[in-house]
Amino acid sequence: LLPNANGKRLIRDVIDRHGRVLIAAGNVLWPELVSLLAKHKIAAVWVKDDETEKVNNHEIWAVDDLVDEQTRLTLMDGLQQTLVGNKKLTEQLEVMKVGVLQIVEELSRRQDLLLYLNDIRGVSNYLYKHSVNVSILAIALGLTIGLTKDEVYLLGMGGLLHDLGKMRIDPAILDKRGPLTVDEFKQVKEHTIIGYNMLRLETQLDPRIALIALQHHEYSNGMGYPWGIVKNDIHPFSRIIAICDVFDALTTDRAYRSRMPARAAMKIITAGSDQQFDGELVEAFRKVAVIYNIGCRVKLSNGLYGEVAGLNSADASRPIVATKFGLINLFYKPELDIVEAI
Ligand SMILES: [Fe+2]
Repeated sequence: LLPNANGKRLIRDVIDRHGRVLIAAGNVLWPELVSLLAKHKIAAVWVKDDETEKVNNHEIWAVDDLVDEQTRLTLMDGLQQTLVGNKKLTEQLEVMKVGVLQIVEELSRRQDLLLYLNDIRGVSNYLYKHSVNVSILAIALGLTIGLTKDEVYLLGMGGLLHDLGKMRIDPAILDKRGPLTVDEFKQVKEHTIIGYNMLRLETQLDPRIALIALQHHEYSNGMGYPWGIVKNDIHPFSRIIAICDVFDALTTDRAYRSRMPARAAMKIITAGSDQQFDGELVEAFRKVAVIYNIGCRVKLSNGLYGEVAGLNSADASRPIVATKFGLINLFYKPELDIVEAI
């Protein structure tokens, strides 16, 4: 966290809300740099210190980039060009395909895939940034449940293009603060059908990508839109995107509310298990998504307080906690739970 970063060396670039490098990795964070970060509302950065060294030796957890920054920026740019209407969708598709394939390659090389949520999601509320985040989340989730590279490529493209139909919806409605009228909500719902039609009629992409655009707001219990179909009628890829879409939307700043901590968002996703979302996929998502960052203070169900010291790649929701009685690895202590995170 920022107050503890003073005087320490950055081990990752710090990126601002426009995707520019604010401070490059390798720099030492002297007080003036720390105040610059605070001014940009950046709450946490990756630094090298004794604590990270200790944890590194104890358990494996990746500090390096989950996705190459350039790949992400290229994808965001391609999508932005399309969504603002500067370039035709078909012209940008090749760029997007290359970017998605790169992410698939990068993520599938990892043996221990954990989602460092603070890294993959940004501060901006732009649709294209959200879409790139959904794409990365979906690729990672797809890989952890054992989908093939070809399948996760489709998921990645689907994540990128799931809200494509929004470019034909009035921005005043999309960015409206406060509740939508019945008619406005009806218009927003249309983005699913518009996106599907665009992808089917204007591109040669695999129909499953279009299906993601159509079905990503359907609920397992049939209460979603546009059709209100139930779980088994919703394509599994669409069910994956549904989880990643909601999760990233909750943890990203929007025009009308600030972002929610990852732990709170995960509670909402878990509460929607078997109702809004596919329960088995929610379980898989919980294991891969890191909601307890290293250094986070926690209270355990036995009353002990501690600090998250490391993560288990088999289940990120059960970290290793340093307490005054030594390290407790929750992965091997099913009787213990984290009841509070501070
Ligand atoms: Fe959507």
